[in-house]
Amino acid sequence: MAPPSPRSLLSSSLLLLLLVFLPNTAHSSSFRPKALLLNVTKDASTLQYLTHINQRTPRVSVPVVVDLGGQDLWVDCSQNYTSSTYRPARCHSSQCSLAKSSSCSDCYSAPKPGCNNNTCGVIIDNTVTRTATTGDLGDDVVSIQSTNGSNPGRVATVNHFLFACASTFILEGLANGAKGMAGLGRTRISLPTQFAAAFSFHKIFAICLSSSTTYPGVIFFGDGPYKFLLNVDASANLIYTKLYVNPVSTASAYTAGHASSEYFIGVTSIEIDDEAVSLNTSLLSINNTTGYGGTKISTVNPYTVMETSIYKAVTEAYIEAAAARNITTVGAVSPFGVCFSTANVGSTRVGYAVPTIDLVLESESVYWSIFGANSMVQVSNDVICLGFLDGGSEPRTSIVIGGYQLENNLLQFDLASSKLGFSSTLLGSQTTCADFNFTSIA
Ligand SMILES: *[C@@H]1O[C@H](CO)[C@@H](O)[C@H](O)[C@H]1NC(C)=O
Ligand SMILES: *[C@@H]1O[C@H](CO)[C@@H](O)[C@H](O)[C@H]1NC(C)=O
Ligand SMILES: *[C@@H]1O[C@H](CO)[C@@H](O)[C@H](O)[C@H]1NC(C)=O
Ligand SMILES: *[C@@H]1O[C@H](CO)[C@@H](O)[C@H](O)[C@H]1NC(C)=O
Ligand SMILES: *[C@@H]1O[C@H](CO)[C@@H](O)[C@H](O)[C@H]1NC(C)=O
Ligand SMILES: *[C@@H]1O[C@H](CO)[C@@H](O)[C@H](O)[C@H]1NC(C)=O
Ligand SMILES: *[C@@H]1O[C@H](CO)[C@@H](O)[C@H](O)[C@H]1NC(C)=O
Ligand SMILES: *[C@@H]1O[C@H](CO)[C@@H](O)[C@H](O)[C@H]1NC(C)=O
Ligand SMILES: *[C@@H]1O[C@H](CO)[C@@H](O)[C@H](O)[C@H]1NC(C)=O
Repeated sequence: MAPPSPRSLLSSSLLLLLLVFLPNTAHSSSFRPKALLLNVTKDASTLQYLTHINQRTPRVSVPVVVDLGGQDLWVDCSQNYTSSTYRPARCHSSQCSLAKSSSCSDCYSAPKPGCNNNTCGVIIDNTVTRTATTGDLGDDVVSIQSTNGSNPGRVATVNHFLFACASTFILEGLANGAKGMAGLGRTRISLPTQFAAAFSFHKIFAICLSSSTTYPGVIFFGDGPYKFLLNVDASANLIYTKLYVNPVSTASAYTAGHASSEYFIGVTSIEIDDEAVSLNTSLLSINNTTGYGGTKISTVNPYTVMETSIYKAVTEAYIEAAAARNITTVGAVSPFGVCFSTANVGSTRVGYAVPTIDLVLESESVYWSIFGANSMVQVSNDVICLGFLDGGSEPRTSIVIGGYQLENNLLQFDLASSKLGFSSTLLGSQTTCADFNFTSIA
């Protein structure tokens, strides 16, 4: 092989320089918080989880739907987007490559956010309705409260936070007032990645969704402690499991070859009151060629959804385990398929005293327990329903763990080491996700 010419040496050192500067595209102010937080409120009518992003100059608090596996922050730019600090991402810039953009476009009306020449575009995914469109990539100022783990603290600012500009029509299906979605997925422009890069903290974030539509839960960016009243550190006793990458995108629209930005875990079996349910285990692993199968976690699905054969096996075993406790089924109440009378059902700290569902992970000793508070939905005074839905016979993902099953559980995603830490229900520790003290100590 010929020795490298001075020219290729020069270009490789330029490339090195570029690589060194890439992670710093989200320039931040001098204040270096160790962790940040957002509050999250459950919307009563759509059951979506809403947060607010403080963006633009002058600052606007933008309501957005939290999308755990979402690729980026996208907001409606066609109505009311005014900001003196908005900058479109120029085609072929480092921002465009961070966003894996493969398009470049011009716009033939008056320039404004979402309409600029020589700007790269990204796919905008409304994961609630599974509708996609494209929009301009750009950046603007985002500010967010820091935290010491116990209370909110000083506001930290990211001057060039990358996001996508959407048209108003794509908001359809989102909670009333929502102007976009906040993606926490596995990409280089999702919220956790940009915040970690801006403030040089570990690529770790945690979600703690509240079951209340009045008292908010919390999302933390950065490592713990995550302290809830009365002084419970929810990061202290986590159980860890491996996070898997689905090599085939699960987005509504995508470029071939892109991996999914969603978080998959390796459920290997399901036990109900310690009895294993017989399942077709090939559905539980991801087919790495087609991207079908496996188990993912979603904040966009209000309830857990299972492929038909899994749903049938789980609900039959559940009804049997309930009967063994003298709990009787009653007529189904839509959207649920299995409901019970509350007669003979006791109450515990972790919800109704009903059969426990364990999602068994890499070994018999690593499992996620779902107790009454996360399995039973109260539909009337004396009727409760199993909060699991039938996902049909060939869904893309075999098990989608939904919001109801995540509430009052702390889930910590460590992107650098690809692992998920989960607390199981905090109700067992006599606290809840709504018990974070939002009184600022700034
Ligand atoms: C939640 O965050 C929004 C936007 O930052 C803020 O206006 C609101 O007061 C916060 N709510 C609580 C309970 O802290
Ligand atoms: C745009 O902003 C104005 C003034 O703040 C407000 O009255 C109007 O409702 C907003 N329109 C939309 C579509 O958000
Ligand atoms: C883009 O360039 C074209 C051709 O030069 C021009 O007509 C158009 O107004 C420009 N659009 C914007 C948004 O600046
Ligand atoms: C955060 O600050 C408050 C007020 O100074 C203090 O009471 C609390 O112990 C601190 N929390 C942590 C985890 O350091
Ligand atoms: C198990 O699932 C796989 C993948 O969908 C399917 O090909 C196979 O036929 C199923 N096996 C049984 C016994 O149903
Ligand atoms: C993955 O799906 C393809 C296409 O359906 C099939 O040929 C292949 O056998 C599957 N792989 C596994 C490991 O099931
Ligand atoms: C897909 O790839 C993952 C990670 O390499 C592996 O653990 C899993 O077994 C593969 N799935 C199948 C069906 O082979
Ligand atoms: C269920 O009811 C039967 C008959 O009333 C009773 O003998 C049995 O002890 C009950 N079992 C449980 C688990 O409560
Ligand atoms: C919440 O935090 C504030 C500020 O540290 C403190 O004064 C207040 O007592 C805390 N509230 C509770 C219920 O502990």
